[in-house]
Amino acid sequence: MYQFDKVISREGTQSVKYDNRECEFGEPDVMPFWIADMDFEVPPAVHNAIMKRAAHPVFGYTGTPNVCYDSICNWVFKRYSWQIEPEWIEFSTGVVPLLSYAVQAFTMPGDGVVVQPPVYPPFFSVIREHDRRVIENPLRETATGYVIDFDNLEEITRPDDVKVFFLCNPHNPVGRVWRPSELERIGAICLNNNVIIVSDEIHCDLTLFDNQHTPMASMSHDVAQITVTCMSPGKTFNLAGLSTAYLIASNPSLLKSMRRLMRGCHVNTASIFGTLAMQTAYCMCDDWLSELKLYLENNILQSIDFIKNNLSSVQVVKPDATFLLWLDFRSWQMTQQELKSFLVKEARLGFNDGMCFGTGGEGFMRMNIGAPWSVVQEGLFSLCEAASQLDIHERFNSSVPQNV
Ligand SMILES: Cc1ncc(COP(=O)(O)O)c(C=O)c1O
Repeated sequence: MYQFDKVISREGTQSVKYDNRECEFGEPDVMPFWIADMDFEVPPAVHNAIMKRAAHPVFGYTGTPNVCYDSICNWVFKRYSWQIEPEWIEFSTGVVPLLSYAVQAFTMPGDGVVVQPPVYPPFFSVIREHDRRVIENPLRETATGYVIDFDNLEEITRPDDVKVFFLCNPHNPVGRVWRPSELERIGAICLNNNVIIVSDEIHCDLTLFDNQHTPMASMSHDVAQITVTCMSPGKTFNLAGLSTAYLIASNPSLLKSMRRLMRGCHVNTASIFGTLAMQTAYCMCDDWLSELKLYLENNILQSIDFIKNNLSSVQVVKPDATFLLWLDFRSWQMTQQELKSFLVKEARLGFNDGMCFGTGGEGFMRMNIGAPWSVVQEGLFSLCEAASQLDIHERFNSSVPQNV
């Protein structure tokens, strides 16, 4: 049994989530449910490995041992039955940098890169910062959740200057795990139109409720030939501060283009603690991950139950994966500014603003429930109490919390 219920103070640890609240929300003491890291301790085996290495007081240039590459190959085979070779891997300080390198490696200024909003904000910025065009294929909301608009995707990928498709799988913020049938259609469209798929799979190890992740590149040999996969232990084992990620590309030409750029900028080295943490986690921490997933499932189910019982004006779809809830406040009929201000000033809550996720984000907020249940529960109470004090109580049927 691991202690996911343990409340740990993170203030003063250079934590963005805690120590940057004033900068983000204008208030230093909002309850932080923003940014995607968790408030849990890393697996004990990871902590021990780091402590042991840290006891040696020299931290010079350090190579990446074969065991580290092997740990990645074994991990993706064990979890996704995906057979990869160590030679297909290149390290990076993060997945976002990989998205940025991919834009630079595979497109020219003015070229189009397809994204499916609402989506993780850097998907837009890494395109715009390099003077490329964001081409949107907005996800469609249906009664049963978000789906991909394949007809539109077919249409917008046709022009020759649309070169790359950014896939987010599982999808942040809506929590969809794309099914093999959906990946097959994306693959066929991109193959038809000579579009390279850059598949951000950073949340893939956190599939919940029996959902199964399928790496895009594992769909077929042909799809693998046009795909660069980006992965990381950062979300899975709460290691974001150790800046460790990697790409996998079996097509030598795609790999060469990425490597030329990354090695040219000297950014392909891995950090000593990052790689050590990753290989330890991948080799020794399956049981921790299994327990974490059960804990997250429970947090999600309890949060959804609470919202249904006490805040029926707020809609939420059960995510297939991740520790992020995509909350729909549209029935409150507030402007985004009013909503943000209400949540910060009245409810004392720091969520991620839905508008930052682009088209389809207005009226939404993203809540991070990767924290002890007592903390999540306090946040939900606060939301409910604030809502009930305003005339929102009358207008939208919110009530004093019950059934927690
Ligand atoms: C979809 C997605 N990609 C990438 C990242 C960040 O990756 P990294 O910290 O490795 O740059 C996040 C973090 O929230 C994310 O949700």
